[in-house]
Amino acid sequence: MVRKIAENVYFVGAIDWDRELFDELIPLPNGTTYNSYIIKGTEKIALIDTVEPRKEEEFMNNLKKLNIQKIDYVISNHAEQDHSGLIGKVVEKFGAKVVTNKKCADFLKTHIHIKDEDVITIEDGQEISLGDKTLKFIFTPWTHWPETMVTYLKEDKILFSCDLFGSHYATSEIEQVGSEKLLEMAKRYYAEIMMPFRVTMKQNIEKVEMLDIEKIAPSHGPVYKNPKLIIEAYKKWISDEVENEVVILYVSMHESTRKMVEYLVESLMDKGVKVKLHNIVNADIGEIAIDLVEASTVVIGTPMVLTGVHPIVAGAIYLVNALRPKTKYLAIVGSYGWGGKFIDEIKSMLSNVKAELLEPVTVKGLVDNEGYEKLEHLAKEIAERNLN
Ligand SMILES: Cc1cc2nc3c(=O)[nH]c(=O)nc-3n(C[C@H](O)[C@H](O)[C@H](O)COP(=O)(O)O)c2cc1C
Repeated sequence: MVRKIAENVYFVGAIDWDRELFDELIPLPNGTTYNSYIIKGTEKIALIDTVEPRKEEEFMNNLKKLNIQKIDYVISNHAEQDHSGLIGKVVEKFGAKVVTNKKCADFLKTHIHIKDEDVITIEDGQEISLGDKTLKFIFTPWTHWPETMVTYLKEDKILFSCDLFGSHYATSEIEQVGSEKLLEMAKRYYAEIMMPFRVTMKQNIEKVEMLDIEKIAPSHGPVYKNPKLIIEAYKKWISDEVENEVVILYVSMHESTRKMVEYLVESLMDKGVKVKLHNIVNADIGEIAIDLVEASTVVIGTPMVLTGVHPIVAGAIYLVNALRPKTKYLAIVGSYGWGGKFIDEIKSMLSNVKAELLEPVTVKGLVDNEGYEKLEHLAKEIAERNLN
């Protein structure tokens, strides 16, 4: 698949329509793309990143379609193999030098065995000339890995942003103004990949915003013709502002915890609070991650199992802790039979989440009137905090 995105600038990436899972973890409801771009200057030719190695044939065919015989520079914005995996082949076949930062060069050596002599190391803010086109490199650490950077094509005002602003979204519309669907997919990607780095990302977004950008060409998903849309969305997601939304993640073996959760949902709805409910047994973790992006409150519902949380809830709590959402309030509800310590366990498992823990509600067996009263009180507390 080759697409012109500016004069002498081409998308040469691959669309993976059928991929269902990324990192053996993230469900991909709409497949994904691995984006790579060729920039033909009057003197030199540069390639921005490569594609997932399993798409080698398609990628090489793209370069053939453009009659590429020689590549001077292959820019590596990020050493992860879905972008870097074919760099060795590009060096070998097209005689390219790998241009990247020191940290990325180290990763390329260890992860795909690129040789020292094939690498040109650049500094933050450095530029290289391709003749009539100039590439400027801007370090944006932790826009996935510690070495990740972006590349700005000055004359065409295109930002090659790598994973930043990306989306796992296979579509025939390689360039888009920004549909609701694209924003949804970009939010999912942000939630899964970028959210843990929300705080450090603020500096990166500031750096990027200083550039005069007409297009953002990420390494997954469509190219944005209106960069403001995605930059503004990111600024909202990374801000400290939360929405008045409660995300409830729960499991119930014999309906006791479920009854507590259902009561809580209804009571919150009656009080005008928006609720996103996930029975996590078969949940798509991407959906949970999206809901965590802006929620003010997270509620964990679990029965006691072998003196602690239900193992599937433990997995969800692990995920919440790893994603570091900006949630401000946390609540725990659950049912038990004879005893154990799930409250302390959950608290210690959520050490990354700087949220205020509201009074937990635990009930022995099936919820009774006293339990409903406690849940009503919890719902009032949550509503008060959300609606103020
Ligand atoms: C496999 C299993 C292990 C359990 N382990 C504990 C436990 O360690 N401590 C406890 O208080 N209750 C334990 N229970 C009892 C449940 O916590 C209790 O029945 C609870 O009401 C179940 O809530 P649920 O209907 O939402 O699943 C266990 C139940 C099962 C099925």
